[in-house]
Amino acid sequence: MTQVKKNAQTFSRRHALKATAAALLTTMAGAPMLVCAQTANGATPQRKVLVVYFSKTGNTRAIAQEIHRAVGGDIFEVRTVQAYPEAYRATVDIARKEQDENARPALATDMDSIAQYDTIFIGYPNWWGTLPMALFTFLEGKDFNGKTVVPFCTHEGSGLGRGPNDIKRVCVGATVLDGLAIRGSRASRAQEDVTDWLKALKLI
Ligand SMILES: Cc1cc2nc3c(=O)[nH]c(=O)nc-3n(C[C@H](O)[C@H](O)[C@H](O)COP(=O)(O)O)c2cc1C
Repeated sequence: MTQVKKNAQTFSRRHALKATAAALLTTMAGAPMLVCAQTANGATPQRKVLVVYFSKTGNTRAIAQEIHRAVGGDIFEVRTVQAYPEAYRATVDIARKEQDENARPALATDMDSIAQYDTIFIGYPNWWGTLPMALFTFLEGKDFNGKTVVPFCTHEGSGLGRGPNDIKRVCVGATVLDGLAIRGSRASRAQEDVTDWLKALKLI
């Protein structure tokens, strides 16, 4: 913003506004963005946000993208090396087996560190009452000490299930805020729910 302000001194007012808009758009399209939230005493803390999620059929991805639109920061999709079958029933069976065996499916996409973030949204489809095991692969071994973690999920009746408790157990040292559960069938029309929830948590 300092750069934009400096340039604006030599620009006309309209050019300055255009430059500011362009700089904002560039930041939104690119990597890490600082999200500012106004506090009650008027201070403006800077928040570095990550939205991380797993999604097989796109419902959780839709919510993740909605959150990302509202809060900015970075968004990251966790994917497994071994893709799940197209067929619902076959995926259900594999997921059941993975959960029974407490498996940690290998990841095709992972992050070395989450050190640069202070607020981390974790999105999951409710699979047999909790997160798909691939998200445990992702979460374990990362340092959540002092982070704020915000769960969200899509489901077909079970809501957040055991997800928040499992997240609390795995994300040691994090403060876990109230999660959002959206029915999968409503995921593409959940903008208002997402906004209301983020406002209630004072994240926007
Ligand atoms: C393996 C598997 C297990 C599931 N288990 C549950 C469950 O226990 N409770 C529930 O409400 N929905 C369950 N569902 C439905 C999904 O949570 C729901 O369709 C979700 O929106 C899918 O998200 P996605 O499109 O991001 O993959 C399950 C779906 C699958 C594939």
